[in-house]
Amino acid sequence: MSGLMPENLRESWFIGPVEVPTRVVLAPMAGVSVQAFRRQGRRFGAGLVCSEMVSCAGIEHRNEKTLGYLRVASDEHPLAIQIFGSEPRAMAEAARMVEAAGADLVDMNFGCPVRKVTKTGAGAHLLEDAALACGITEAVANAVSVPVSVKMRRGVEDGSRRCLELGPRLVEAGASVLTLHPRSARQMYTGYADHTLTAELVSLVDVPVIASGDITSRAKALAVLDATGASAVMVGRAAQGNPWAIAEIVDGDGDDAQPSREEVAAELIHFIRETARELGERRASGFLKKFYAWYLGHGRFPKPFKNELVQLHSTDEVVTRLLAAAPGAAARLAELEVNVPDSELLLEGMPISVYGGG
Ligand SMILES: Cc1cc2nc3c(=O)[nH]c(=O)nc-3n(C[C@H](O)[C@H](O)[C@H](O)COP(=O)(O)O)c2cc1C
Repeated sequence: MSGLMPENLRESWFIGPVEVPTRVVLAPMAGVSVQAFRRQGRRFGAGLVCSEMVSCAGIEHRNEKTLGYLRVASDEHPLAIQIFGSEPRAMAEAARMVEAAGADLVDMNFGCPVRKVTKTGAGAHLLEDAALACGITEAVANAVSVPVSVKMRRGVEDGSRRCLELGPRLVEAGASVLTLHPRSARQMYTGYADHTLTAELVSLVDVPVIASGDITSRAKALAVLDATGASAVMVGRAAQGNPWAIAEIVDGDGDDAQPSREEVAAELIHFIRETARELGERRASGFLKKFYAWYLGHGRFPKPFKNELVQLHSTDEVVTRLLAAAPGAAARLAELEVNVPDSELLLEGMPISVYGGG
């Protein structure tokens, strides 16, 4: 037990010199954590947000789509960009690009269980190769002046405690913060996250630890912070199509009140427009389909309505249909849009060399 009494999740904490204003971190999620998602997360109270995992090979080869993942908006800070790879030199080079792009932290993925990633020696494979994991961490920490973090799972095999051996060595190699998702790679997302390991890790290292896995409510967040002594909790799946969960965890009174239909429709339309601006209409319309189910679920809209939206061809059609179903959303939407910096301003700090000028 930490004896920390973390009722106030609006208390700031530090990763090296980076001040994180709340104890809730928005999880990196491939296919989800676009800029619009991260900016929304910050607006709803996440103290730190993270990009999805970005391939260091893609960065090295200046792949245009990969470089698009390095775009940082002015209202995202503090923000981590997560990279994955298996070669210290390439990871160090990618980390330099991430720093140049304006990230406040370089995060490294030592936890991805997907075979396409692990077979290249990256992601969760690194939990099995401590020498390489430490070599990468050291190379990256030496390459940049921003703090470096590592996100890992408990180990590859079920019941593994590998994270407890590796964690302190990663800190010695230069990691300024560790995030632990205490499931094995084998487990993928089944079973549950065993945060007794998070508590053990906290007791072994003198850097902040972020607890990831199954944080779905304020009660769960408080219980995990209290039981582990972690500096923050990370919220992933619970925030998909549900930014209100972040606000509830940070500030709520535990009653899990649902937002009104108008609020949901306004937030979704805003998200659609931001994403279309970010990814372009063609990519955005496919990307967004899963979000319709996430936003409109929770009993907020009838199921046939969601099915209808998924069939529509353009994001404009979806917006029109949403406004027809919840006309009161227009006023809330106008409020949301007033506060958005335009894209020129958002991308002001972006070195042309990083994004290839596009
Ligand atoms: C769709 C999806 C994509 C994910 N992508 C990443 C990723 O790119 N990098 C990473 O470190 N973790 C990734 N994760 C793991 C999450 O960051 C988080 O650790 C995990 O989902 C457990 O937290 P949760 O129970 O709050 O969802 C992903 C998870 C999901 C569900």
